[in-house]
Amino acid sequence: MNISRNIIIGIAVLVILFTYPFWDGLGKSAAAPEVNLDTPVIQGLADKKCIEDVEFMRANHMQLLSDWKVSVVREGNRIYVSESGMEYAMSLQNTCLECHSNKEEFCEACHVFADVTPNCWTCHVE
Ligand code: HEC
Ligand code: HEC
Ligand code: HEC
Repeated sequence: MNISRNIIIGIAVLVILFTYPFWDGLGKSAAAPEVNLDTPVIQGLADKKCIEDVEFMRANHMQLLSDWKVSVVREGNRIYVSESGMEYAMSLQNTCLECHSNKEEFCEACHVFADVTPNCWTCHVE
């Protein structure tokens, strides 16, 4: 009896440890400032969604962009297929900034708050 109970407690502790970065990430995204989604392209969307789930985007857009860059530059693949099966050109300027054309009030509002300064714009057009 006791042994199996200890095993269950052990497993529970491991699950919490392994998912901690995820919960930790959720906490951080909750602290993000309000961002402005009022752009002409987003206004025109029937379904006002990002390319992936909004929680995923909040936590992982940096990694996604980095994967896109590798995919385009090293593998020559320019098409991204989202979880929901939609296709997008893997482009910072033509995809992200087409919808989020208010970079100052969107990307930068968060980045100033989080104190990060991506260097992308020294090469990429806004
Ligand atoms: C088709 C238009 C569209 C494209 C393309 C798009 N987004 Fe979004 N994005 C949205 C919309 C609409 C939301 C708000 C979704 C919601 O609140 O459910 C959003 C939300 C987000 C959020 C979360 C904002 C918050 O509320 O905290 C981030 C971060 C983000 N987008 C980054 C990006 C990045 C980076 C790219 C390119 C890799 C991108 N988006 C491409 C429309 C788009
Ligand atoms: C909801 C808030 C939020 C929004 C909106 C947002 N970002 Fe970010 N972004 C962050 C945070 C927080 C980090 C730092 C994350 C880290 O260091 O783990 C970051 C980091 C990044 C990085 C990596 C920077 C580096 O030097 O490592 C890139 C690139 C980036 N964001 C691009 C964008 C672009 C492009 C947009 C607009 C289309 C955008 N982000 C919108 C919160 C946001
Ligand atoms: C030193 C210049 C330079 C910097 C800085 C830079 N890039 Fe790029 N990036 C390039 C070049 C050159 C390409 C290849 C363009 C192509 O083939 O379309 C590229 C391609 C990409 C692509 C795929 C194609 C496209 O047009 O978007 C993404 C996504 C991308 N970079 C994201 C980023 C992000 C995010 C940052 C900042 C964290 C960044 N880059 C910083 C030069 C740079």
